[in-house]
Amino acid sequence: MKTDIIKIDKNDIKEEQIEKAANIIRREGLVAFPTETVYGLGANAFSEEAAGKIYAAKGRPSDNPLIVHIGDLKMVDRLAREVSTDARKVMEAFWPGPFTVVLKKLPEVPSGTTGGLDTVAIRMPDHPIALALINQADIGIAAPSANLSGRPSPTLAEHVIEDLSGQIDMIIDGGPVGIGIESTILDLTGEIPTILRPGFITKAMIEACLGKDIITDPAIIGESTDQAPKAPGMKYKHYSPKGDLILVMGDSNRVAAKIDELASEKIRAGYRVGIIATEETAALYQNKAMIKTIGTRQNEQSISASLYRILRECDQDNLQFIFSEGFAGGNFGAAIMNRMLKAAGNHIIEV
Ligand code: TXA
Ligand code: MG
Repeated sequence: MKTDIIKIDKNDIKEEQIEKAANIIRREGLVAFPTETVYGLGANAFSEEAAGKIYAAKGRPSDNPLIVHIGDLKMVDRLAREVSTDARKVMEAFWPGPFTVVLKKLPEVPSGTTGGLDTVAIRMPDHPIALALINQADIGIAAPSANLSGRPSPTLAEHVIEDLSGQIDMIIDGGPVGIGIESTILDLTGEIPTILRPGFITKAMIEACLGKDIITDPAIIGESTDQAPKAPGMKYKHYSPKGDLILVMGDSNRVAAKIDELASEKIRAGYRVGIIATEETAALYQNKAMIKTIGTRQNEQSISASLYRILRECDQDNLQFIFSEGFAGGNFGAAIMNRMLKAAGNHIIEV
């Protein structure tokens, strides 16, 4: 299949370009488009056949459900039943934005879209191109991240081209995304609202909005549990670079000294070594490792926005060992660490 790659300036969206993309969606084709979190691979959410094409293009396991993207609150009533007061509150507060709710689904939503579950994940993205496309197509757009299954989510159109060129009808290049990690997912189908995937919208923000405590799925915060994560996608190994990624955590001077020592050892043994550092610490490393500056500690979003690009670069540069500082911290830092821990297969050294 020939993939049409079109550039759209998010500040100057041309009607004809969006119409062409919307037409593909209506015809049950696949269009990759930018959102504020990561690029999505979109298809008509009400079509079993279109959903099937998404799974085939990504090589995605069929039990891993898709998020339905909407452009208008009214669409919720075409997708979900039992929309509670809590659900209304968080949708009002955080949409459009990097925030997904899981609700009980209506029968019209095909089980191909929801991976066989009787619930549906819904999000209104905060990106002018995504919103223009959804509103022009005038349907819900099912869209997982636009990467091959198991690779880091795409934060640049180049990443989508790398993974899916030739497999899908169109890629809209809208430039780099802003947040860089996927939306927060909140399950509202149980007794207590539960975070299934941490993201930019934090637990504290949701609790402030609802005026009560909520919980995080214990299976995703490393608490010992026999339960599988409630978001099926969280059980898969994700985002791992080909080389060994090791996180070194603790006091920042000691971290830098330890990373320097470990990296030097591996370099002496003849390996290709990388270090993921911040603007504040990059100059502390005196060895011959490839230094990848991820962002500044003054601004967590500068770190999240670069994370997946840097993980992809580690593979392009054939790095065999990658040492990274940790970016722990409450709030949004916890969501960044969730992705880093997965990429590192939980390999941590504490100093
Ligand atoms: O920021 C985002 O959410 C991006 C952009 C494109 O919007 N999308 C995204 O989609 O990250 P994806 O498919 O890569 O991740 C969706 C996650 C998976 O872990 C999936 O298991 C979970 O959402 N999910 C979807 N529907 C669900 C449901 N009904 N119940 C529980 N988890 C669900
Ligand atoms: Mg994904």
